[in-house]
Amino acid sequence: MSEMQATYLKDYLPPAYRVTHTELTFDLEPSATRVKARLHVERHPEREPDEKETGLPLELAGEQLKLISVAIDGQVLEADEFTVDDKTLTVATVPERFLLDTEVEIDPDANTALEGLYRSNGMFCTQCEPEGFRRITFYPDRPDVMATFSTTVIGDRDALPVLLSNGNPVERGELPNNRHFVTWEDPHPKPSYLFALVAGSLEKVEDHYTTMSGREVLLQIWVEAENLDKTEHAMASLKRSMQWDEETYGREYDLDRFMIVAVNDFNMGAMENKGLNIFNSAAVLTHPQTANDATFQRVEGIVAHEYFHNWSGNRVTCRDWFQLSLKEGFTVFRDQTFSADVNSAPVKRIEDVSFFRTAQFAEDAGPTAHPIRPDHYIEISNFYTLTIYEKGAEVVRMLRHLLGWEDFRRGSDLYFERFDGQAVTIEDFVACMAEVSGLDLDQFLRWYSQSGTPEIDAHGEYDYATCEYRLRLSQRTPATPGQTAKLPLHIPVRLGLVGTKSGHDLSLTLSGKDGESEKLGKDAVIHLREAEQTFVFTDVEEAPVPSLLRGFSAPVKLRYPYSREELAFLLTHDSDGFNRWDAGQRLTLLALDDLIAAHRNGVEKVMDSRLIEAYRSLLNEPGDDKAVLAEMLTLPSEAYIAEQQPTVDVDAIHAAREFVRQSLAYQLRDDFLAVYRDNLSDEPYAPTPEQIAQRRLKNVALAYLMSIETEEAVSLTQQQLEQSANMTDVRAALTLLAHSDRTDLAEPALKAFGEKWAHDPLVMDQWFTIQVTRPQADVLERVRFLMGHPLFSMKNPNKVRALIGAFAQNRVNFHRLDGEGYKLLADVVIELNRLNPEIAARIITPLTRWQRFEDERQALMKAELERIRAEKLSPNVYEMVERALA
Ligand code: ARG
Ligand code: ZN
Repeated sequence: MSEMQATYLKDYLPPAYRVTHTELTFDLEPSATRVKARLHVERHPEREPDEKETGLPLELAGEQLKLISVAIDGQVLEADEFTVDDKTLTVATVPERFLLDTEVEIDPDANTALEGLYRSNGMFCTQCEPEGFRRITFYPDRPDVMATFSTTVIGDRDALPVLLSNGNPVERGELPNNRHFVTWEDPHPKPSYLFALVAGSLEKVEDHYTTMSGREVLLQIWVEAENLDKTEHAMASLKRSMQWDEETYGREYDLDRFMIVAVNDFNMGAMENKGLNIFNSAAVLTHPQTANDATFQRVEGIVAHEYFHNWSGNRVTCRDWFQLSLKEGFTVFRDQTFSADVNSAPVKRIEDVSFFRTAQFAEDAGPTAHPIRPDHYIEISNFYTLTIYEKGAEVVRMLRHLLGWEDFRRGSDLYFERFDGQAVTIEDFVACMAEVSGLDLDQFLRWYSQSGTPEIDAHGEYDYATCEYRLRLSQRTPATPGQTAKLPLHIPVRLGLVGTKSGHDLSLTLSGKDGESEKLGKDAVIHLREAEQTFVFTDVEEAPVPSLLRGFSAPVKLRYPYSREELAFLLTHDSDGFNRWDAGQRLTLLALDDLIAAHRNGVEKVMDSRLIEAYRSLLNEPGDDKAVLAEMLTLPSEAYIAEQQPTVDVDAIHAAREFVRQSLAYQLRDDFLAVYRDNLSDEPYAPTPEQIAQRRLKNVALAYLMSIETEEAVSLTQQQLEQSANMTDVRAALTLLAHSDRTDLAEPALKAFGEKWAHDPLVMDQWFTIQVTRPQADVLERVRFLMGHPLFSMKNPNKVRALIGAFAQNRVNFHRLDGEGYKLLADVVIELNRLNPEIAARIITPLTRWQRFEDERQALMKAELERIRAEKLSPNVYEMVERALA
């Protein structure tokens, strides 16, 4: 099975030939598009042939292409002068430098994989990263081949009035048969994965941005006509991003125009094609009435992310796909920092970390664990993962901690300057950081090659006699697939010592090896490098509680034997907002542990009164900003609680969490009610951090009240649903009603909403999700029913995620003991394997985590994986299933 062969990092070789300039002509037809390519090819200077006489064959990737003709320097090749199979076009002998002309035919309408050129709602669009360009034309489709592009798009004048590609439009004109064309030129050499084409009946919103050197840039967002009123926030986010990248990283935009296009059928969030970003409509369109605050913030973050790629990804790109985190980790770090800067920084960090510790930790602990730089893959599309993106960002963040911002910025400047226009490696990036700072980062590089989540055990001891505080840290990383022996990592641990008497951060003096000591201030980063290391702090004037790993300074699990009293103390006294929140999470988790045990042993559940008191003080002495307070009042998710358990007991976790929620609601109902009332507002909607915080806090309070379904809560929720003009409040209220046990509340609300919004696919996605995340036991039947809904389609990834993906997050129902949840997911995987392998390989993830559950569920999950394995599989699903069952 040739297509199941793995690619190895160690086998990397520079390409034999490079392309300096690429000319493309597209003659667009829905099921028979012609693509002519003229490639200016030359021998790569770094790749000398082994046998000088024969030279190196020219090998071009191509999939799902119907070859019409191939010519070299104007000479059409005869059938015996080249070979072509379903993956490669090979010409055995070619000159040192030549023009290659090919013509192929492709079928955009048959393209349900949404890679290459396809049609979405009548509009042509492309997705080429990572290896979609080979579904457009024969090409050395690898990121280290960079060419300038000139693209002519021809289409029907009425059906396709708008014809877009990368760069600048240089020519347009009319053609016979009611056709027209536009030619685009992109002067920046780019790899094929950054190519884009869009053609359709689109409308635009325009704006301008003047760069720091005074250049005018035309900004356009292209959408279907009915979405013109949903672009304002994305445009504002784009301008903020452009300015932020100038101010923070000194990076200026480099073309005369920057375009964003919204498409309905898209596998991921968005794509950073040079000058022509293509977005999933769900990741760009917002309107107060149709999108909630979380969506507004997500859109802002993704617009920024794709824009930032123009430097971290496009100007400096990846040598090969093993280096994916070079651009993704760095760019996620950049977008996270941007969002923190323009919103509430502690809340952004809390959100990112709680997602990370839930989802990335789970990936690292499962059979698909892989390093940030993998050493092999079967299908690279399977590696757009939380590890590559989010852990990659955490590693960049650690570099910033280790270097400090100024050196980090100098390292970033050096990287962009030295490698501009090149395709490089992760070592190149880290070497710049080492060079500017003088730090030895050799050990640090292990973060990129070693998979798994490191665990740190911490123990502290205060000596009243000597006023010394000794902190012993030990680290170990558990074995992961293919990696049993792990080496110690270089880990920045940011910390403070909070005085138990004063409640303040104490001054830190670290004693060194040779009796010298170093004054570190009150909040410092210490470097853990050994498997075990003791840090001695001197002149500690009172007994402290340590506040460790502030701001989550490293992507590790940190254990410290905190008492509940110490956690309650940190919850109110830690100067680090993130750790204050984390102390609350730890305290809640301890209480949950007891309750989970009680549930399993069938004994009565008793609520920890310390937790109630902690919440009471949060509600009554709101010292923090409202956004942080809302986070503090939010219980850890069932998924996060599950991550803490050696074996996941889905039902006990659900029962314990519900018990805490309802106990808090009973005990503190007046406080929650007061918070709800105090945060009602009739200001017109704006996605400002202040308003978002207020809505969040209000809706958290309402959710507690609804968990005990008092008449008052029900009527407040119904009022909110009926009277709110923004989707944040409407969706929050609808969710509460829809998730209630009372069908008289749930059904009418869902029905009215579904009728009101039937015309808006993005709102209907939310409607699907709300229904399949209900805790009630009838959900699986509802999923099956909704799969037959006229608005549901297996070909639209957003619908699949909204219905099936969301259902698989519904822990009690997906993990039903009759195995029907697993069966449903497996059926969907099998169908998607044929239609859209990339989505199939993503949606299967929950099944791959079978080892985390008790024997009965393990057996059921494995049986479904084996049923999938028996199918004729795409490389995508094949790789996931093989890893899951290995
Ligand atoms: N580079 C894009 C982004 O992070 C993601 C593209 C992923 N494409 C894919 N087929 N997996 O913004
Ligand atoms: Zn990205």
